[in-house]
Amino acid sequence: MNAPVRMVSETANPDTALIDDWHVIGFSKDVPSGKVVPATLLGEDLIMWRDAAGQVHVWKDLCIHRGARLSKGWIANDTVVCPYHGWRYDGSAKCVLVPAAPDQPPPLKARAFPHRIEERYGMVWASLGEPKHGVPVFPEWTDSSFRKFNTGPYLFKANGFRSVENFIDATHFPFVHGGLNGVEDAPDKVEDYKVFEDDNGISTSGIRVYQPYGDHRQVPVNATYIYRVFRPLVAYFSKAVEIADAGKRHLGSPEDRFCTFLTAQPVDEVNCIIRLCVAINFGSDLTEEDILRRQDKVFSQDKDIVETQRPERIPVDLRAEIHHRTDKFGLAYRRWLGALGLTYGIA
Ligand code: FES
Ligand SMILES: [Fe+2]
Repeated sequence: MNAPVRMVSETANPDTALIDDWHVIGFSKDVPSGKVVPATLLGEDLIMWRDAAGQVHVWKDLCIHRGARLSKGWIANDTVVCPYHGWRYDGSAKCVLVPAAPDQPPPLKARAFPHRIEERYGMVWASLGEPKHGVPVFPEWTDSSFRKFNTGPYLFKANGFRSVENFIDATHFPFVHGGLNGVEDAPDKVEDYKVFEDDNGISTSGIRVYQPYGDHRQVPVNATYIYRVFRPLVAYFSKAVEIADAGKRHLGSPEDRFCTFLTAQPVDEVNCIIRLCVAINFGSDLTEEDILRRQDKVFSQDKDIVETQRPERIPVDLRAEIHHRTDKFGLAYRRWLGALGLTYGIA
């Protein structure tokens, strides 16, 4: 994938809280065996590769011999081959062959730089440090009544926190997603709702809006969103969808839910990659194409706006920008980021 191109000036060092966290850097399907896949996380260039046993490895994109990029290398005999002098590194990150001295054991210090990895929800999660939390739990993942779809990646030339804040904001629907998630000429009045905080992040009570094309069935719905932010760059909503058209209401069920788990990969302070896992327990006739078409449209509309926001880094000093009662959850998000003491990606 081509790197996003919003230019960063004078970048800060990533905070320990972000280093010691899990971040999605790819979909599992994008890391087939036999391929070296580049990625960038918090300004650090990485490679991903899958060994013959199916385990994914995430390493610094650097060969310790002369500093060449392993991302320009390839896989041979279940090892990563450096493109410069052909040194080979196995799944334990150890150099197992120096081709110019094939009869001698390679130096013990000749090792790649591995990071922690987990595969969950069809996504590759990596941490550059020592994670203090597990990978957040996507509640519907283990519920077999929900079909799951990975959507994205969406490259946002935008700050990851601003992108997450956009995802948890129900008042932009009529304007950014008019005709889909809201009606521009008749924007919903958003009633007050509650915000909660616990060990699992911050969340809301139900936020109800009307959506003319609120899900992939192309029917108008009354949607009730419950949002949650698990980690600074991992968020979620569960949306209860009730068909608004009385004549078609029998086609739905009170249990119908459309749930979305969103991750923002902080490429650097002002670029991120959005990846989602969507879980749906209705519309069994909907195809993956139907789902992707709508997701791609909604996220391209979000991208168009979020890429224009300035300052590029999110302000968490509440004196910056104007906050309205209806920004309650976004405000809680900024307070929560501020309380984590983050500085990277923060204005
Ligand atoms: S720089 Fe990698 S083998 Fe020499
Ligand atoms: Fe949006």
